[in-house]
Amino acid sequence: MNLENKRIIITGATSGIGLHLLKVISKIKRTQLIAVGRKIENIPQKENIFPYRADVSKEEEVDNMFKFAIEKMNGIDIFFANAGYSYYEKLGKASWQHVNNIFATNVVSPIYSLTRMIELNKSSEFMVIISCSVIGKLPFPGFSLYTGTKFALDGFNTAMQYEMHENGHLMMVYPVATYTEFFNRAGENVYMPWPHQKSGKVVKAILKGINKNKKRVYPFPFIKPILYLMNVFPFIYDIYHSIQKRKLERWIDNRL
Ligand SMILES: NC(=O)c1ccc[n+]([C@@H]2O[C@H](COP(=O)([O-])OP(=O)(O)OC[C@H]3O[C@@H](n4cnc5c(N)ncnc54)[C@H](OP(=O)(O)O)[C@@H]3O)[C@@H](O)[C@H]2O)c1
Repeated sequence: MNLENKRIIITGATSGIGLHLLKVISKIKRTQLIAVGRKIENIPQKENIFPYRADVSKEEEVDNMFKFAIEKMNGIDIFFANAGYSYYEKLGKASWQHVNNIFATNVVSPIYSLTRMIELNKSSEFMVIISCSVIGKLPFPGFSLYTGTKFALDGFNTAMQYEMHENGHLMMVYPVATYTEFFNRAGENVYMPWPHQKSGKVVKAILKGINKNKKRVYPFPFIKPILYLMNVFPFIYDIYHSIQKRKLERWIDNRL
């Protein structure tokens, strides 16, 4: 899909990958962007960027966001469901809200927004991009709830690709650990798992993916062979996971 002239919503546009992508796309000819987050003060002021405050874990706020976007731009061609977060923890305390919040933000909201885009664009071409993660392929101790949300998205993507109509594109992005606010928000002194990358690499891969209507984008070049090797030799998984488990235990000890 060519980005010129497109009417776009980016959620999670106030920080990290979303903010970086917003800045790059806003320079492309005649683009209009609705930049969504809860702390919209960070959003750059530009004539083609319309900041919109919303908590995307809430149905009513997502509906109002769509209403605002349609009024402002007279339609939506690209929706980037990028807002998401993680906890770093040893899960154990019973809290419905704790589980519900992360699934509402990371899973329900992107899928609901996709269905809104399908309803909105009966015959015109559109694209929905969802920020998944390599964790959606490679589970991580300490990130079990987050892993659950991204596995849900990955499974959804595999099936949904066969349900998309010809005018719609669904693209899932699988970054590895990326230098953003993500790990600071996950908890205090949370370590960044290997491998790492800069948000610029992720943004570049997303732009290439949009251009080629890709179904899946892996911004870190060697991750597909690594995942393949781990599937063929599952003992690598076991070694990797026992290292991560020890890191989690050390992190818990340091907090006591
Ligand atoms: N960084 C990584 O290592 C990494 C790796 C793989 C995948 N990802 C995925 O990439 C996406 C972007 O993450 P990032 O690395 O850019 O993290 P980030 O810097 O922490 O940014 C997260 C964004 O999500 C928004 N957000 C979170 N909850 C929200 C809610 N309920 N309503 C509205 N906005 C909400 C935040 O905005 P406000 O706080 O202003 O609401 C912020 O703009 C996430 O889906 C994440 O899972 C990240």
